[in-house]
Amino acid sequence: MTTSDEWYTYYKANAEFQLEIPWKHGAEITEDEQNAIADSLAAWQLGETSDGLHLLAAAKNYAQRIKDPKYVDVIELFIKEEQRHGGDLGRFLDLAQIPRLQRNWGDTLFRKIRYAIPAMEIWTTPVIMVETLALVYYKAIQNATNSPVLKQLCQQILRDEVKHIRFQYERLAVIHKNRPACLRKLTYLIQYFFYYVPVILVWIGHHRALRAGGHSFKTYWRDAWVKMNFAWQRMKPERYQW
Ligand SMILES: [Fe+2]
Ligand SMILES: [Fe+2]
Repeated sequence: MTTSDEWYTYYKANAEFQLEIPWKHGAEITEDEQNAIADSLAAWQLGETSDGLHLLAAAKNYAQRIKDPKYVDVIELFIKEEQRHGGDLGRFLDLAQIPRLQRNWGDTLFRKIRYAIPAMEIWTTPVIMVETLALVYYKAIQNATNSPVLKQLCQQILRDEVKHIRFQYERLAVIHKNRPACLRKLTYLIQYFFYYVPVILVWIGHHRALRAGGHSFKTYWRDAWVKMNFAWQRMKPERYQW
């Protein structure tokens, strides 16, 4: 189990060692590519953009309760990283003259769920699901374009999100550790059924972009479940030494 100190060191180092994004090339996105992915990318950019205040409040509360003050510092770095994703995607949208979105149904729904109850578990669970789908999504975007800037930007985000997913499943393992076995089974069952919602909604909202990236509904569905299963395996507290 990675400690908060270790996560802090990781996020600090990761902020320094960024892939070089060739911004000077311009967007270099073709009209066809833009038709397929522009709306979707603008929606995803909005989703990556948040002030993080709800999360920070929940994290402060939680860290105090479990006596791990460093966790708050880690969350601050995590928020910065997500803001970098939103910022860089926004920069790309501007470069390609794709209008930014102010509102989007998917983003609104995702926020409502995250903010419903200011508890770490209620925040972490939907986030790990969406980050899992982000792996499928950004990989597809990478395949859907020849723009060097967008390809490299996706590469950086993918690299970051892999660690975010680990950050979340380890946290859920901590949260679930002392839950009785039967309640934990129930938790996994609820998660399993709940996961259908973002998987279906992301396909509804982004199928054009996903198809442009080489997916059919079938391959998307399979990929989405394989990746979430990976996280579910590692969410189990018995995998870790305490
Ligand atoms: Fe992100
Ligand atoms: Fe993330």
